Amino acid sequence: MSAKSEVAAGQSGVVVDIAGLHKSFGDVHVLKGIDLRVQEREVVCIIGPSGSGKSTLLRCVNLLEQPSSGTVELLGIDVTDPDVDIDAVRTRVGMVFQAFNLFPHHTVMGNLVLAQRKVLKRSKAEAEEVAWANLRQVGLGDRATFYPSELSGGQQQRAAIARALSMNPALMLFDEPTSALDPELVGDVLAVMRDLAIEGMTMMVVTHEMAFARDVGDRVVFMDDGAIVEQGPAAQVIGSPQTDRARIFLKRVLDPTHIDDSEIGQTEPDDPT
Ligand SMILES: Nc1ncnc2c1ncn2[C@@H]1O[C@H](COP(=O)(O)OP(=O)(O)O)[C@@H](O)[C@H]1O
Ligand SMILES: [Mg+2]
Repeated sequence: MSAKSEVAAGQSGVVVDIAGLHKSFGDVHVLKGIDLRVQEREVVCIIGPSGSGKSTLLRCVNLLEQPSSGTVELLGIDVTDPDVDIDAVRTRVGMVFQAFNLFPHHTVMGNLVLAQRKVLKRSKAEAEEVAWANLRQVGLGDRATFYPSELSGGQQQRAAIARALSMNPALMLFDEPTSALDPELVGDVLAVMRDLAIEGMTMMVVTHEMAFARDVGDRVVFMDDGAIVEQGPAAQVIGSPQTDRARIFLKRVLDPTHIDDSEIGQTEPDDPT
């Protein structure tokens, strides 16, 4: 099965082990001591308000950001070790962002083949064979010769997933992969992600799609202000959050029109008369 992780985790079955992770940008302390371990085949959904550090956390896992302190182990390798081969590490981690980041001047097939040939040194024939399998997997078997601009946002995002899968990652990171999509295109992308999860891909998914997190996530991690405030089985965290901060956040995302009682009456407009 092409889309499935080919490399087994270490004997412990741990794919990612984050310990005491801090990240600051100048004076801004964004991640304040994150401890998080992701097991092989586990799907961890990360939720939380905007600015809480979710993207920064994912970016520290594949070293798009250098952690300020703490460690990130990927398949038993400490990626924060200055001697580590960063490029070798990155090839083990597939990442799909909110914005569709396909190369616009390459066809879909070109996008899927490029890194396989350059980074993995695969032959053209092998790279194309892998690409075809992954395009079929995401329902784009008939779009190989199209350019990104000729695809819908949902198709572009599925192509981006197929491209990441073509590198045979041990871990897939998703950062709000559906939040830039028109609502009617969201379902196809989530369905592809659900299939991947069922096939056993290890995944960290930042998402505001609570139904997806509840149904597909093995675990939900709620972040606020640079820290993990609450985590547990998806149904528990989403269905009966234990902390006020998670409760307030979930009320807002599950019912955006909801106004918390405590917010009413605090900002009485001045009587203009
Ligand atoms: N490259 C950067 N330089 C400075 N501040 C940053 C940078 N990236 C993120 N931040 C800040 O870190 C905080 C967390 O951002 P982010 O991880 O994107 O949160 P989230 O994904 O949860 O919305 C925000 O206050 C943001 O402004
Ligand atoms: Mg973000």
